[in-house]
Amino acid sequence: MTARYIGFEGVEGAGKSTIVAQVAACLEAAGDEVVVVREPGGTPVGEEIRRLLLHSDDVTGWTEAALFAAARAELVRRVVTPALERGAFVLSDRTLYSSLAYQGGARGLGVSAVRALNETVLGGVLPDIVILLEVEPDVGFARETDRDRIGSEGLAFQRRVAQAYREIAATDPAVRVVDAARPQASVVADVVTLLEAP
Ligand code: TYD
Repeated sequence: MTARYIGFEGVEGAGKSTIVAQVAACLEAAGDEVVVVREPGGTPVGEEIRRLLLHSDDVTGWTEAALFAAARAELVRRVVTPALERGAFVLSDRTLYSSLAYQGGARGLGVSAVRALNETVLGGVLPDIVILLEVEPDVGFARETDRDRIGSEGLAFQRRVAQAYREIAATDPAVRVVDAARPQASVVADVVTLLEAP
């Protein structure tokens, strides 16, 4: 298995956190160390930024993108890189690809501009593979009841996020699309198979 830093992406209600936990259990059962992280957060500064981002009343576009990138830079330097250096798997519930889809695409800042910002602050430490858990935004939106500021932007915004993810997946070889509208066991099995591919 070559991928060690594995990102999980999707619109609200795609079931990311459940799938991440189940994939982690599969890898651990095979005897590997697995570190699960969630963005934004995972460090003291990252958790402060998370609070700002998800609960402040109003944040303008590039401030939002810069804060997500700052939280991510902290997480990558303090948690992800040391774990990868120990030989652990890192499973990340959201990555810079969320910024590409939400801030770059749905908010209209531009995917390549947001990618450039993130690649700079991350010093080139990027996920080896990104699993895009795809569900219809309408279905995901209906499933998710506990909405934060960004999740509360409504269905039209979620549709723009889904469209941005699809466009990114079409051109970025790191992204693998998995149909997440199926039973969880099938989704997990597909993800594990993808991770086992050379
Ligand atoms: P979270 O509670 O982790 O939601 P979810 O369960 O959907 O992952 O909140 C993260 C929210 O922040 C979610 O609405 C997606 C958004 N987000 C961005 O807009 N850009 C980003 O770079 C990241 C990491 C998250």
